[in-house]
Amino acid sequence: MPISIIIGAQWGDEGKGRVVDWLASSADIVARYAGGDNAGHTVALEGEVYKLHLLPSGVLHDQVISVMGNGMVINPVNLVREIKALRAMGIEITPQNLIISSRAHIITPAHIALDAATESALGDAKIGTTLRGIGPAYLDKSGRAGIRTGDMLLDVEVFAERLISAIEATQDSLRQQGMEALDARAAAMSYLEAVDFLRGFIQDASIYLHEALTDGARVVCEGAQGTLLDIDHGSYPFVTSSSPTAGGALTGLGVGPLRVDRVLGVAKAFSTRVGGGPMPTELEGEVAKRLRGSGENFWDEFGTTTGRPRRCGWLDGVMLRYATMVNGFSELMLTKMDILSGFDELKLATAYEIDGLRSDHPPVTNEQLERATALYETLPGWTEDISGCRTFAQLPTAAQHYVQRVSALCGVPINMISVGPERDQLVQR
Ligand code: IMP
Repeated sequence: MPISIIIGAQWGDEGKGRVVDWLASSADIVARYAGGDNAGHTVALEGEVYKLHLLPSGVLHDQVISVMGNGMVINPVNLVREIKALRAMGIEITPQNLIISSRAHIITPAHIALDAATESALGDAKIGTTLRGIGPAYLDKSGRAGIRTGDMLLDVEVFAERLISAIEATQDSLRQQGMEALDARAAAMSYLEAVDFLRGFIQDASIYLHEALTDGARVVCEGAQGTLLDIDHGSYPFVTSSSPTAGGALTGLGVGPLRVDRVLGVAKAFSTRVGGGPMPTELEGEVAKRLRGSGENFWDEFGTTTGRPRRCGWLDGVMLRYATMVNGFSELMLTKMDILSGFDELKLATAYEIDGLRSDHPPVTNEQLERATALYETLPGWTEDISGCRTFAQLPTAAQHYVQRVSALCGVPINMISVGPERDQLVQR
C-alpha cells in the first residue's frame, strides 16, 4: 500500500471480490473504478453469501470507506436496491462509509432498452452482454451526451427534464431497431425516488481520495470484469465498454500512478468466459462439466449477474502472460485451485498455432484468434483434497509444480492461492 490495484487477469469472474474482501481487512478505503452492475462479486462470510453488483466489496468491513469511482456507470435504482438488501442483512451503509463520485455516469432506462435492441439486431453475432445498459451508457459518456451522478444534486425538476430529454434522444434508435419507444416521462419518474435517496452519498471522490492518501490512507482498488474484456486490450468487439485494466484504475478514480505500489492480477486456475468471442482453450464434454460444477453451489461456474453457464477450459497461459504484460502485474494470485484436484493430468496452454505458425502472444485479429489452436504442456495432476492446506509446503508436489510453472510462464511470483470459498481457505507463501 498506499494503493493496491486488484485486476481480473482473464475474462472476469476470477474471484476478485473475495480477494478484495480479504485485503480490505487491512485497508482504509476500497474503491471500484470501472463497469456497473454487469459485475457480480460473491463473498462468503460467516455462513452468509453476499452478492454485490455495484457496491465495492469493502462494504462488508466496518472500518472501510467504500468509494464508487468516476469510471463507473451506475443504475441508481439498482444501487438503492442493493444498499437496502445489504442493510436488511445487517450491513451498515451510510454517506459516512460510502462515497459515490459526482463524475460517474448514470445508466438510464433508455440505455437498458438500447442494449437489448442492439444485441437482438446483431443476431448470431451478438456480444452476449449482461443487458444492463453498460455499452450504451459508455457510448453516451464518450459521445458527451451522458448524465452524471453529480447531476443528481441539481434541482429535482431540472434533473428530471434532463433525464427525459436523454431518453427522448434515443427513441429514434430504438424504433429503428424495431423496439417500442419508451414513455420517457414515466421512465424518468421511476428514477426520482432513488435519486433522492442517493443524493447525500455524492461528492468529488477524486478529491476525497487525494486527501485521504495524503493523510496516509491505504487504498484497495477493486477491478470488475477482466483484462481480456478490456475495451482496448480484450478481444474487441467481444468486450465490455470500459477499461478494467491497471490504467483504468487510475483514470477511473482520478489518482496518479506514483501512488501505486502493488498491482495484483487475479486468475482462476483454469479458464472461464461468459458471452460470445474467441476462447482458445474452451472445452466441451466431461472436463468442462467438472470445471463448471453442477450449479448447486454458489462457486460453480454460472453467472452471478445473469445465471448463464460459463464456458470452461484449461488455463490459457498465453492470455495470462499477455494480461501480466498490459497491466504490469507485480504478482498473480490463483483462485479455485481446489477444483483441479482429482484430474489425472492437467493441461496448460503455453503458445498458439495459427495457420501453421507458432505464436507466443495473442494474434492481432479476432479472426486469427478464432483459428488459433492452443499448444499445451501436460502436467501431472493430484488426487488429494487441498481445501485444508494453508501453506505452500502443505500442497501436493504436483500442485506446487503447477503453480511454479504458471508463475515461470508469466514471469511474476504467485504468493496467494485460494483452495475453497471461505475467507480463510487461502494458501500464502
Ligand atoms: P457488458 O459489459 O454487459 O456490455 O457485456 C460485454 C461482455 O462482457 C459480455 O461478454 C459479458 O458476458 C462480459 N461481462 C461483463 N461483465 C462481466 C463480469 O462481471 N464477468 C464476466 N463477464 C462479464
